[in-house]
Amino acid sequence: MVHLLCRCGFSHTAIIEEDGNLAVIDVGSVGTALDIKFFIENKLGLSLTKVAYILITHFHIDHIAGLGRLLAFCPAHTRVFFHPRVQDYLNGTRSIPKMKNWKNCLWPAVFYSAAGVRRLGHFHFETLAGTPLPLLRLISHLPFPQERISYFDFTSSSVILPFFSAWRVIETPGHTEDSCSFFNTRSGELISGDWIVDFPGFGPRLNPFSQNWEVSRETFRRLKEEIRPQTIYPAHGRIITGREENVMSMVRQ
Ligand SMILES: [Fe+2]
Repeated sequence: MVHLLCRCGFSHTAIIEEDGNLAVIDVGSVGTALDIKFFIENKLGLSLTKVAYILITHFHIDHIAGLGRLLAFCPAHTRVFFHPRVQDYLNGTRSIPKMKNWKNCLWPAVFYSAAGVRRLGHFHFETLAGTPLPLLRLISHLPFPQERISYFDFTSSSVILPFFSAWRVIETPGHTEDSCSFFNTRSGELISGDWIVDFPGFGPRLNPFSQNWEVSRETFRRLKEEIRPQTIYPAHGRIITGREENVMSMVRQ
């Protein structure tokens, strides 16, 4: 089952719980890491030793800037997973690409994302890595050993994580080149990161704030044929659900 933490900073965190094992998706700030710890211990009644994975939807600051702090609470076996493209950012051979459509998208995104900010810790970014602005795009330092990091292997037909057998990791490029989403083949739950969002007044839509809008649309067309999500959990905005057999049909492109 998916627990969505919506008031834990600039982006939501999703926690997948399967048979007592946990996977945390996105950690946007030090305050977010503390909120996740509180939720797991006090709401789920579990220990952070149950966190098998920290999965990252994409390498943007509002999704990664509390990773080190959460990892410090977790046992040595907890692994952080990124898209393989992130290797290039971390070893300095590539900086994160520029974003497009700032003019139309930045302010609604900042305004509605800021609704999740509840305390000072949500402004506490332990790194500026993943900031898609001139000069800052070059920063890629993460404050924990790279030995804790693994990369999804998209060369196999389907990426499956041990302990989470119903879940598939899917490449969803467009918002960023390293975007990943997570789909439960049994329950029809899709965790979409920033690829699909739903801000009040705008409705469910492909996120026009993207590195490559055409790629994003192509990803959508391809996946609409392949998967039939019944619920979409975006990293910003509201949960998307409806009576439709495939709620992708509710998403505007
Ligand atoms: Fe985001």
